[in-house]
Amino acid sequence: MASEGCQIFNPAEKVAKISHCSSMEQYKQMYEKSIKEPEAFWGEIAKDFYFEEAVTGKFVDYNFDTTNGKIFIRWLAGAKTNICYNCLDRHVAAGKGDQVAFYWVGNDPADAEEVTYADLLKEVCRLANYLKSKGVAKGDKVAIYMPMIKELVVAMLAVARIGAVHSIVFGGYSAESLSDRMLDAEARVLITADAVWRGAKLIHLKEIADDAIKICKEKEQNVRLNLVVQHMKNVTAPQSVTNGAANGNPAKKTHFDDKGNYKVTWNPEVDVWWHDALAYMSTECPPLWMDTEDPLFMLYTSGSTGKPKGVLHTIGGYMLYSATTFKYSFDYQPNDVYFCTADIGWITGHSYVTYGPLLNNATSVLFEGVPTYPHTGRFWEIIEKYKVSKFYTAPTAIRTLMKFGDDPVKKYDLSSLSVLGSVGEPINPEAWLWYYKVVGDSNVSIVDTFWQTETGGHVITPLPGATPCKPGSACFPFFGVDVALLDEEGAEIKGEGEGYLVFRRPWPGIMRTVYGNHERFETTYFKKFPGFYCTGDGARRDKDGYIWVTGRIDDMLNVSGHLLSTAQVESAMVEHSSVAESAVVARPHTVKGECLYCFVTLAEGCEFSDKLTAELKNKVRGRIGPFATPDFIQLAPGLPKTRSGKIMRRVLRKIAVGDRDFGDISTLADPSIVEVLFQHRPKEGKV
Ligand code: PRX
Repeated sequence: MASEGCQIFNPAEKVAKISHCSSMEQYKQMYEKSIKEPEAFWGEIAKDFYFEEAVTGKFVDYNFDTTNGKIFIRWLAGAKTNICYNCLDRHVAAGKGDQVAFYWVGNDPADAEEVTYADLLKEVCRLANYLKSKGVAKGDKVAIYMPMIKELVVAMLAVARIGAVHSIVFGGYSAESLSDRMLDAEARVLITADAVWRGAKLIHLKEIADDAIKICKEKEQNVRLNLVVQHMKNVTAPQSVTNGAANGNPAKKTHFDDKGNYKVTWNPEVDVWWHDALAYMSTECPPLWMDTEDPLFMLYTSGSTGKPKGVLHTIGGYMLYSATTFKYSFDYQPNDVYFCTADIGWITGHSYVTYGPLLNNATSVLFEGVPTYPHTGRFWEIIEKYKVSKFYTAPTAIRTLMKFGDDPVKKYDLSSLSVLGSVGEPINPEAWLWYYKVVGDSNVSIVDTFWQTETGGHVITPLPGATPCKPGSACFPFFGVDVALLDEEGAEIKGEGEGYLVFRRPWPGIMRTVYGNHERFETTYFKKFPGFYCTGDGARRDKDGYIWVTGRIDDMLNVSGHLLSTAQVESAMVEHSSVAESAVVARPHTVKGECLYCFVTLAEGCEFSDKLTAELKNKVRGRIGPFATPDFIQLAPGLPKTRSGKIMRRVLRKIAVGDRDFGDISTLADPSIVEVLFQHRPKEGKV
């Protein structure tokens, strides 16, 4: 963490000159208005959008205090709108139909396509008509498990157009994770693709989806439609594959026929090809006018109990908030080309690949691939080619690319860039400075945007034309966000200090409930400090009022910007018959931010071996997904527990990094276990 006296970086002049908010004075005025007169502030913004019917009730109404009854949040009561209409029809009607909405860039640089607003609207209508013909109606849940292709955007918008609810599951999740989410969401319709290349790896999406459908069936939830995009026939395979060894594994050849076509197994009862389904559908479909508080989507995020929570967002507030944060945090201007590298399967992709940009009539890059394939300059090559001006990625990607030095960046002309964003975890000042100096040539504004799946959009962020930045600080609250820091007792820390990061009132984009479990919503976010939404993060406010998010203070891990709960990983481990108990903690990692360090206590008579650790890693991959694979697994003859049986995780975190400074361990039932665990640490470098 940088010191208080760290260097301050002023907004790039080229950004400030034309910015929607070009000084701290203006920011403060706007911020104050957003807090004192939310109705006037957001009401003015709402005028940019189309509402079929105006607000009839309270503009904003809420209860944040569990001691006063149920928690609820409502914005724009009584108004009716459709977010898909606002993303597409509104712009096409204004004569912007020929504008490019997305430059699609494939995994292989040879694959690229341009999609205009008019193209998108037609395709969305065709899918909307098809879904309607299959009986998909208002409020129905549609699961989506797809690669980063335009059909994914089409699927989201078509679902929203007809008033159904999308539940997107990141294409890196396993069949079990996908089925867990489909079961919880009660989704009986799935949209997927045959497969996708991610770098040189082939991800068999349809095969995984088939397994998930099977699991759903075993649990008596029949999926009635599985719509499949035939993606593989349109893309260039990595050279290693055209030479015969897909994925470095000849067995993978079984997925291709003699002509090199990708093969899928087909269940005619549920499977339908996307191109067949849409072939005869009309390109016109009226949007369904929805109540602003009707659900738009749910997106699952890890919960500290280990069971993922379906974070539910509603239409009106999310629309205003994703659009407004996009406009101000990136200072979006009409001629910009914007590129967000996040997968749509995460909230960043929902708000800042699909909704925020489309609501602003933006032109964006939609990238299917990975930053290091087929070379480590891939991002920079894309920025040069499309003259990207606003770029948004994660600290873990920045750190990965930093490792290759400055040369792959310097090979490209990145002078089009003016705003660089960061999201997902605290960005270390070293990565911030590299991003600023090497990628941005010291002539950009950096925005370190703090937010969560739950917040719907940025809640603490610099504004690129206004805020002087301190590397590593997310700076100040966005409009409408009322930040407080609390101590353990719930007393507010004013001025300088460190504590729980909480918010005192709702902004339009805050989640409304946990799908199917409102009580869990109340307990997770509101019980600890009545009257406040609790983020689960800690933060420090410095003497100048800058906010520094220090990371999670609950049992969550942040691996490459993806939140996981320790409980989720632990329950996967104990499914192995050799494991009696397991405890998982985060260990700092130079690229991923944090990685998983797992302690396992074995069942009687079982032996700790390389074979077992490999099996355990596979177990976690299968249960959650490859991104959750543990980096370290160590034998734990016992775990450090208090007399009441609670595992003292801070001790395990110390052991994970080889630090003997344990602090007070006198409350442990058996303090000698700490030394035993230390002796069993794997040798550095051995994973
Ligand atoms: O711990 C914070 C961290 O990511 C968490 C939210 O994760 P998720 O819901 O998966 O959403 C990620 C993308 C918005 C937060 O509770 N986090 C996210 N952005 C930042 C951050 N921590 C510090 N600085 C950030 N800019």
